[in-house]
Order: sequence, then C-alpha cells, then structure tokens
Amino acid sequence: MKKPYYITTPIYYPSSNLHIGHCYCSVAADSIARFKKLQGYDVYFLTGTDEHGQKIERKAEEAGTTPKEYVDKIVAATKDLWKLMDVNYDGFIRTTDDYHVKAVQKIFKELYDRGDIYKGEYKGWYCTPCESFFTETQLKDGKCPDCGREVELTSEECYFFRLSKYQDRLTEYIEAHPEFIQPAFRAKEMINNFLKPGLEDLCVSRTSIKWGIPVDFDPDHVVYVWLDALTNYITKLGYTTENHELFDKFWPADVHMVAKDIMRFHAIIWPAMLMALDLPLPKHLAVHGWITFNGQKMSKSLGNVVDPFVLGKRYGADAIRYHILREMALGADSSFSNEIMINRINSDLANGFGNLVSRTVAMVEKYFGGTLPTEREGGEFDDDLIATATALKSSVDDFIDKTQLNNALAEIFKVVSRANKYIDETAPWVIAKDETKKARLATVLYNLLETIRITATLLSAFMPTTMPKALEQIGACEKCATYENADKFGVLPLDVTVKKGEALFPRIDVEKEIEELNAIIKNNEKVDEKTAKLKEEIEGVAQIGIDDFCKVDLRVAEIKACEPIKKAKKLLKLTIYDGVKERTVASGIAKFYTPDDLIGRKIILVSNLKPAKLCGVESCGMILAATCGEEIKVIFVDDMEPGSKIS
Ligand code: ME8
Ligand code: MG
Repeated sequence: MKKPYYITTPIYYPSSNLHIGHCYCSVAADSIARFKKLQGYDVYFLTGTDEHGQKIERKAEEAGTTPKEYVDKIVAATKDLWKLMDVNYDGFIRTTDDYHVKAVQKIFKELYDRGDIYKGEYKGWYCTPCESFFTETQLKDGKCPDCGREVELTSEECYFFRLSKYQDRLTEYIEAHPEFIQPAFRAKEMINNFLKPGLEDLCVSRTSIKWGIPVDFDPDHVVYVWLDALTNYITKLGYTTENHELFDKFWPADVHMVAKDIMRFHAIIWPAMLMALDLPLPKHLAVHGWITFNGQKMSKSLGNVVDPFVLGKRYGADAIRYHILREMALGADSSFSNEIMINRINSDLANGFGNLVSRTVAMVEKYFGGTLPTEREGGEFDDDLIATATALKSSVDDFIDKTQLNNALAEIFKVVSRANKYIDETAPWVIAKDETKKARLATVLYNLLETIRITATLLSAFMPTTMPKALEQIGACEKCATYENADKFGVLPLDVTVKKGEALFPRIDVEKEIEELNAIIKNNEKVDEKTAKLKEEIEGVAQIGIDDFCKVDLRVAEIKACEPIKKAKKLLKLTIYDGVKERTVASGIAKFYTPDDLIGRKIILVSNLKPAKLCGVESCGMILAATCGEEIKVIFVDDMEPGSKIS
C-alpha cells in the first residue's frame, strides 16, 4: 500500500489582487506534492479560500454587494491563478462550503462542552487586515505589532478559548520536537516572543460582525475567523462527519506551508486547538519568508508590480515557478525583480538546461541520424559525470524533506552545469572527425542523454509542463523516466532515438523585455492616477439634500428641429417638444452631432432652468449630456414619452 502524504497551503483571502508573492506558497506546496507523488506516496494536497470575517464584510459593503455574492465573484480569480501556475491541488476548500460550516459549529460546541471555550467579556484592540486581537501591551507604538496598521478599540461579550491552559504543553512540545517548526530559529521566536511572556485566553467569537459562522447554540455570536479558518485542514478531510476516511488516512498533516506573518496562528493557536480536541499535531510547519518588492511586502494594489497573469503568459508557468522557488531560501525574505527573473530564465533555463538538451539532441541527429549505435567506449571524465548524476536523487530527497526547495534546485543545476562542462571537456565535434571513434562518440552522447533523463525526471515536479517535453526529445519513455530510475545510469536503451523539438526555454531579449514590463507598470500607474483624480473629484463635490435635488425638474423631451447658430461654432439651436409645447434650447454639442443625428430623438431636459440668452438665442432649458474624455455624449431616452418626469 502507498504511504499517505498530506500537504497544505494557507487558505487565501479571496482577492482579485493576487500577486507573485501569493504564488510562492502554492507553487512550493505543489512542487513538493508532485515530488512526493513521483516518489510513490499517496498524496493529498489541499488549498482553498478563507471567506469570512470583517475584512470581507467591509469590502463587500464597499462594492455594494452581499459578502457571499462578493466572494463568489472573486474566488474564481484565485482558482484561475493556480490553473495558470499549474498548481494541481487535490482538494479546494471554501470556508463558506456547507460541510465546513457545520463542522466548525460542531468543533466549537465540542470545545465548549469540554470546558475549553467559555463566555466572558473582551476589551482590547482589533486589527481588521490581520483579523487579530491584541492587548494594550502587545501593540507596537499603538499600532498592530504584525502589520503596523491602525487598530480599533473593541469591547464586547464573547467566547474565549482557554489558550493559556496549553502554554506549558506547547512549550514542551516545541522544545521536544525540533523538527516541528522549520527553520529552527522560528521555533525560538515562538518560545521567546509568545510562550515565555505568557499566553492569554483568546477571544473566539464576535457579536459586532455578521459575516461568519454562527455559534449554533448562541446565534448572536459568529465564530472568530481564524478559528474557522484553521480548522479547514481537518474539515475538508471529513472530521466530525460520517465520511472521515480521508481524515483517518491523512491526519496528521505532513506539512503545513505558511508564511512568517501567519506562523503564530499555526504554531500556537492551531496546535492548542488540536490538543484541546485530543488530536495529533501536524508533523511540520514550514515557515517561509516574504517575496518583497523594493524592500516591502509585495502588493499588487500599489500598481508597482507586474501581474502574475501577465508574467505567466509571457514566460510560461514553469519559468516563473523555477525563478521564485530558486530565489527564496526557506526562512529568509527574497526580493523580486523583473530583471533578475529574466536573467535567471536566460542563464539557468535557456543557456543551462535548454541548451544542454538542444545541443545533445542536435549532435545525436547530426552524427548518427537520430539513433545511437550500440557500441560503447568509456573515457576520461565519464566517471565523474556518472557519479555526480547518480548521487543527485538522494540529496534532492533530503532537501525536499526539509522544504528547502532552493537548495534542491541548486543541486540539480549543479549537475546540469557538470553536463555542459562535460561537453566542453570531451568535445564531441572533435571526436566526430575520427571515423574510428564512433563508439566513443556514442558513449559521450549517451552519457549526456542519461544525465538529462535524471535531471529532467527530478525537475518534473518543479516544471511540470516543460520536463515531459525534454524527456520526449531525448527519447525517454515513461518507464525510463521514473523516480526509481533517477539514481541509475544506463536506463535508456543503447540504441535510443531522439526527437528534435522546439526550444524548451526560448532566450529572452533582456533589454526589450524590461522596457515592455516597465511600460506595463507605467500604464498601471497612469490608470491609478486617473482613478485617484476621479476619486478626488467625486469626493470633493459638496453633498446636497433630497429637497435640493427635487428643485431640479427633469423631463423627457423630443427634438423636433435643429440648426447651427451662425455666430457660435460650438452651439446648436434645438427645437424641443416637452410634452406640452415647443421651446428653444441652445446646446454646446455642434462639434459632436449634426442635425440629422438629433432630429426625432428623445433626450433629458432640465425643464425649469431660467431662460438665458446665448449668442442671440433665447435658451429655455438645458439638455443632459456626459463628458467622456474629449467627447460630449448626449443621453438619449428614445423609448420614453415626452413630458415624463425623471426623479
Ligand atoms: O493570511 N510573499 O491569507 P492571505 C510570500 N487567510 N508570501 C506571501 C506574500 C508575499 N509577498 N503575500 C502574502 C491569510 N503571502 C489567511 C490564512 S490559513 C488557515 C489562513 C502569503 O491571502 C501569506 O503570508 O493574506 C499567507 O501565507 C498566504 O500568502 C495567504 O495570505
Ligand atoms: Mg495576509
């Protein structure tokens, strides 16, 4: 039977502003999941969306919709991004899913019945972006200690979780299990910054917000969003239901991948909840840093970074996946730059791996018509290449188990470089000149094909689209390109046939590309500037009461006749029927409409505007039009009766 392996990402707040930073966790978890599948594990990879809480409630309000409509609309954006990035999850949970809602209610009740949740009063500070409570002393300069933003004073009746009760057990557990939190310095942080100073009981319900899972035995309360969210890792597996096979098989999780800003919830609150439920703790928390941009945590809403959809479409998911995984050392932050990304794609993927494959395949075609002869002759440099290539699998395994994907990739690319160097050392083009050295030439090319097979097999977890193409080009069948074979040499048939294909990673013109990406960023900024100006304009207008508005009499009217005004190039003289009588109106739309465009059409008339003389024409009223950029567009209401009141 296959061994189970369970890996999760955090569940993401639904957003249409996901950026490259958000991709890291999912792409990393996806690569590990794929690698474990390759190793023969029965893998379950879970991701999803975290849809309750004040933050979503407020955004929905701003958008003028209900929270459920709001999340339903944008959850697709998250799924689209994972599709584009080739994130191939086994389960996707939405915390608004019915089974999750029911399970959270049961878990809440269970903790209440066990005495680990009790009713009390909360007084303290709440950070809405982090959905976090803080005491006065936890604040940093009066602001949220996690994100530095404003906090709000909150006081309400709420349920508490007895977090303090678990302080000693948690400390002992973390100290006794150094593998639990990776990297290790993060465990020290948890102990020194949170456990040693002492845990306080945690407020786990709210009465002041509505968008959440109601406490079923006290429906004025909704469950605190983090308690709701953290349980996703077990509710998706059927915990609390009759269908708990997945839970029995996969819990405890092998790895929860999280970023440092949400470590506290996963290293303290979640384990304490599991202890309270008498459930085993996850085996590892892999805590990664942030992808930063100009030294700050990335934010697409600032408009200064290129949309991952744009990057993915330009360079392909594999190149982006490779770059972000290669760049970030577990635990540290990594700064993102388009230039570094493009240079890396060129150096490692186009020149390094891509070139190794295309040169090797081209030489097999050129010297042997695509199929190697079976005679062999060993030579200098072979042993070193073979030893390096066959040792690779075990070091990659180790790094994957430590979730150090950057190191796993670095190891693989050392072998790629070794193989490129082997080409220079053996100089096949020189051997090819000597008719008596066919066997030696075939051996050199075979060794290269084998090294490509090994590296491409191990890389297939990281770059799932391109590696099967590479394997096809070198003539590796599915049975050859297995994990089992990834530390063996001599797996491809001696008379292997290669198949030239398109370039795996086309070289990118750095200068041209950077220019285009910068243009995209500038354009974003322009759009943002425009919106900012509009916002200022709209918000700068003084408000009026309804009685003021009612003073304006708006009526549907029909244009009966129309002619230019000789003295004024901008004006048209309109004869308008207002449902009772005809009147004359002068309108500054001559640049945009001819009389033919207007006669017979119905428009909106400001009917009670005091008459005024415009260039010799007595104008009785005004017609409504919108300014759209440089243009003025009349508002037509052709299916309405003249005289109808508009209000
Ligand atoms: O925190 N670099 O959701 P989220 C690296 N719903 N990682 C980043 C990042 C960056 N620039 N920006 C964000 C939540 N992330 C909660 C989780 S789990 C029970 C609930 C990471 O959408 C972030 O740190 O704000 C987190 O790990 C993940 O993306 C989702 O963030
Ligand atoms: Mg966040």
